Amino acid sequence: MTYSCGARQWLVYQGSTRLKDRRPPSNIRNDRLTKKDAAKPILEVLAGQRQAVPPIWMMRQAGRYLPEYRELRARAGSFLDLCFTPDFAAEVTLQPIRRFGFDAAIIFSDILVIPHALGRMVRFEAGEGPRLDPLDTPDKIRTLARRADFAKLEPVYEALRKVRGELAGDVALIGFCGAPWTVATYMVAGQGTVDQAPARLLAYSQPEAFAQIIDTLVENSIEYLVGQLEAGADCVQIFDTWAGVLSPREFARWSIEPTRRIVDGVRARVPDAKIIGFPRGAGALLPDYVEATRVDAVSIDWTAEPSLIRQRVQSRVAVQGNLDPLALLAGGAALDRAIDDVLANYASGRLIFNLGHGILPETPIAHVERMVRRVRVYGG
Ligand code: CP3
Repeated sequence: MTYSCGARQWLVYQGSTRLKDRRPPSNIRNDRLTKKDAAKPILEVLAGQRQAVPPIWMMRQAGRYLPEYRELRARAGSFLDLCFTPDFAAEVTLQPIRRFGFDAAIIFSDILVIPHALGRMVRFEAGEGPRLDPLDTPDKIRTLARRADFAKLEPVYEALRKVRGELAGDVALIGFCGAPWTVATYMVAGQGTVDQAPARLLAYSQPEAFAQIIDTLVENSIEYLVGQLEAGADCVQIFDTWAGVLSPREFARWSIEPTRRIVDGVRARVPDAKIIGFPRGAGALLPDYVEATRVDAVSIDWTAEPSLIRQRVQSRVAVQGNLDPLALLAGGAALDRAIDDVLANYASGRLIFNLGHGILPETPIAHVERMVRRVRVYGG
């Protein structure tokens, strides 16, 4: 099916057209040799090309707000079984593309698969979030494996290959990992906390031991992101959800510097790799983050100050964001106003429309449809 640029809004109702038709038998490959891949709007934005209609996807777009996700989640058993069964992971990755026709699919997995592959115990308790064995003393940290068992992550690569085979040519596939700081906060505390005090305390009191966790995560995250790019991801995002709890000095050391090393390490092996950073809560430190890490885009949360972002961030890189997930939950006129603010603030430059953090499980599907429709009719 073809569609013209001005009519993209109908894809809200025709999301399934974002999936390829059934692939031809493997012996008939002529079309795949001659047919040029359609441009992917998200990759165009990352490469420097503003789009008249900003491409759109949502953090946590595969998840509990979707009945089809809840159904498959119940069948899969544990959350990690869902992540590590390629057919299931591929299916939940595609569910939001079918429903909403987003411009990107993000591979269904979790940032905590890296501690799992490093041999740490990781469990997801229903309604409680992740639980790990706390790694909170220098003695324990000395026993941490240096290299992850990448065989454990093979199902993620397999899921990426499956999704790649199903997506239409203009839909980007996003791989991801957690930033070392954010992953370390869960490894140290053994669970999420309100302010990540256990990891902050360890970083102040035992910086050398803490640096060993960070260094291990840097090396393995490089390997993991390169593996995802080789398996078919078009670009990758580094989630630093807890960047905002750090003082400026600690932010430079534990968020910016490890992220810079990952970006350098990935580009040393995949020179044109496109990388999105998400240092949530970085606020006035965002320009430093962008300059030092050399990411291609930065995902911003809803507290970002628009003129600072336009002048000192969007002037250098693409911006992704930044609708408040609570505005999406609220719906109605408040949602429309919040969407229009994002567009007014950032759509005159390079913008990938997204939320400022993940969608909340209680969000009505109709609100997501309303958001996609409103963004797609934007013609600025
Ligand atoms: O965005 C997507 O659709 C891709 C999948 C994805 C998940 N987690 C699935 C998931 C991504 C990109 C993540 C990243 C992630 N995981 C982050 C960084 C981004 C963010 O949201 O802050 C963090 C901090 C984690 C760690 C994590 N995983 C927590 C704290 C929790 C519990 C909180 C919750 O929402 O339940 C998880 C579990 C998790 N990861 C779920 C999903 C869909 C819910 C589990 C379930 O379905 O039972």
